[in-house]
Amino acid sequence: MDDWPLFGLRLRCGEVTLRPVREEDLPFLASILPDDFEQDPRLEPLPGLGAAADRRRLFCQEYWRALGTWSPSSWKLHLAVGFDGETVGVQTLEGDDFPALRTVDSASWLTRRVRGRGLGVAMRTAALGLAFERMGAVAAVSSAMPANAASLGVSRHLGYLENGVGLVVAPGGRVVELRHLRLTADRWRSAGHEVSVSGFEACRPWFGLV
Ligand SMILES: CC(C)(COP(=O)(O)OP(=O)(O)OC[C@H]1O[C@@H](n2cnc3c(N)ncnc32)[C@H](O)[C@@H]1OP(=O)(O)O)[C@@H](O)C(=O)NCCC(=O)NCCS
Repeated sequence: MDDWPLFGLRLRCGEVTLRPVREEDLPFLASILPDDFEQDPRLEPLPGLGAAADRRRLFCQEYWRALGTWSPSSWKLHLAVGFDGETVGVQTLEGDDFPALRTVDSASWLTRRVRGRGLGVAMRTAALGLAFERMGAVAAVSSAMPANAASLGVSRHLGYLENGVGLVVAPGGRVVELRHLRLTADRWRSAGHEVSVSGFEACRPWFGLV
């Protein structure tokens, strides 16, 4: 779609391909959404829906919210992850005040069947390739609950360093601890990753890059 060039973005790293999630992907993606994906603990649950249905509802709303509220200073790009001809998960890349801070955050999930074979690293690498190589990011951050060994494992593999601990309040007053990590552009470059990106030039204004 000419007026929304983001839909033309394509990334590849190793065995995975990434493309923006589209409306027609939602039913399938919601059907494979794993129950251990940490949704933002501050999101309010919808009483009366079962836990699984509420997770699927929050997932769909996240997609619509990201498109509906996109601005160059605050954006969230949800990318569908393809592997071996199938869609297997979602890699998200986001930036707040990106033109000034040049810092991206990320989140991701994979269907359980394909975990543990390096795809988590490959999909985060693809998104970071877009951020560091094309968008001029100076740093990437990530946050995970201390028990989330897989998310922390992806960050460790890619050279993120510890960046402190934070607390957020979930609905109902539950306090949740998060470990923060940070990867600088210098550390990214020294690792020599190979990421292929196409369709980016038309998207530059969407990220506040002129
Ligand atoms: C996070 C996630 C996308 C990672 O994908 P993955 O395919 O499991 O990860 P990889 O195979 O690429 O492994 C990445 C690293 O973490 C390590 N790792 C993965 N799972 C692990 C676990 N359960 N315990 C300890 N280490 C683990 C791997 O050994 C690897 O490290 P190495 O390369 O140094 O050996 C996936 O596990 C997932 O969908 N988890 C549920 C959703 C979630 O929590 N998302 C993150 C928060 S937004």
